[in-house]
Amino acid sequence: MPVITEIEDLKRIYRRRVPKMFYDYCESGSWTEQTFRENTSDFDKLYLRQRVAIDMADRTTKSQMIGQDVSMPVALAPVGLTGMQHFDGEIKAARAAEKFGVPFTLSTMSICSIEDVAENTSKPFWMQVYTLKDDDFMQRLFDRAKDAKCSAAVITVDLQIMGQRHRDLKNGLSAPPKLTPQSIANMMTKVQWGLGMLQTKRRFFGNIVGHAKGVADPASLSSWTSQAFDQSLNWDRIREFRKMWDGPLIIKGIIDPRDALEACNVGADAIVVSNHGGRQLDGALSAIRALPAIMDAVGDKIEVHLDSGIRSGQDVLKAIALGAKGTYIGRAFVYGLGAMGEAGVTRALEVIHKEMDLSMAFCGHRDITTVNSDILMIPKDFPGEWL
Ligand SMILES: Cc1cc2nc3c(=O)[nH]c(=O)nc-3n(C[C@H](O)[C@H](O)[C@H](O)COP(=O)(O)O)c2cc1C
Repeated sequence: MPVITEIEDLKRIYRRRVPKMFYDYCESGSWTEQTFRENTSDFDKLYLRQRVAIDMADRTTKSQMIGQDVSMPVALAPVGLTGMQHFDGEIKAARAAEKFGVPFTLSTMSICSIEDVAENTSKPFWMQVYTLKDDDFMQRLFDRAKDAKCSAAVITVDLQIMGQRHRDLKNGLSAPPKLTPQSIANMMTKVQWGLGMLQTKRRFFGNIVGHAKGVADPASLSSWTSQAFDQSLNWDRIREFRKMWDGPLIIKGIIDPRDALEACNVGADAIVVSNHGGRQLDGALSAIRALPAIMDAVGDKIEVHLDSGIRSGQDVLKAIALGAKGTYIGRAFVYGLGAMGEAGVTRALEVIHKEMDLSMAFCGHRDITTVNSDILMIPKDFPGEWL
């Protein structure tokens, strides 16, 4: 058993165990990947203030996201094709999250279906919803989420169209993977992954195939996907989705203060400051750098969460110090899942929890809910002054 002390350790094992096509799918950003890189490197520009001789005993990282108790303010982000990173990946990740006491968010583009995840877990999870044209499909997706007792819907608003990721095109990414001489040669070196995939029947997009009109089999999926996303999405349409779902609602994919203010008017419970992990507009500001201006704009009108670039508990602490009430990890949990299945996701959560807990203590706090920007040294130009 390798000694895993940081998220980077899980990533190294993940890279060895999972076919290149799926590693590349996870570990890339759009076009030049500037935003993807800066999502992580911008966290390093914020410094933490160490305090000493302050009581550090009896600490707690317990908090709430949208009024729901969490053992730490870190949810698992919706990640499409998670079930291709490890067999039954969504179920495994959801189980790890529920045992740890943090929310799991299931992607619309998951391999395991909503019903599958609900049957194989015992606590409610959150359902991520893409904004598609087909009203029937959308209403049914919300209804299925309700039947599965999902405790929040997360509407992703930054993917009407898709940013280009060069490697996905070059690799011919698909689920199940397209069999080419190169992909077969590569998969033959990933024995554990292959054995896992052979033992599961879950290899297609479980929420779509058999549920969307005209998608009875995986072959018809790609033509459906290219037409299904609603390029003409606007805030009125998002208000229509709000009417389709009467539970807690989170709007994900906000990176501009003006959009944050718009999101306050749709009746959502929270927004997620996110640039989709650098997978959409390349050249956009990193999420952590966008956060201060958004906090200034919305004040306490709405709960603010953040994702994109979190690889450590220190990163979580910095986001919380800047005012986020919760955070999400995407790649950090996928590395764990691909490396070691459910145990790997648990390990990723443990690593982040320990880093956050100890760093919080070094900064002189015993309770994550009391952390504020006093623990940070923020460069004057961090939020940026733009022409
Ligand atoms: C491989 C991959 C697939 C993703 N799929 C989805 C998705 O289906 N729905 C969604 O809202 N966001 C999706 N995202 C974005 C994540 O929810 C999240 O915003 C992002 O991963 C956060 O950045 P991080 O990976 O640096 O933590 C995906 C991200 C990755 C890396």
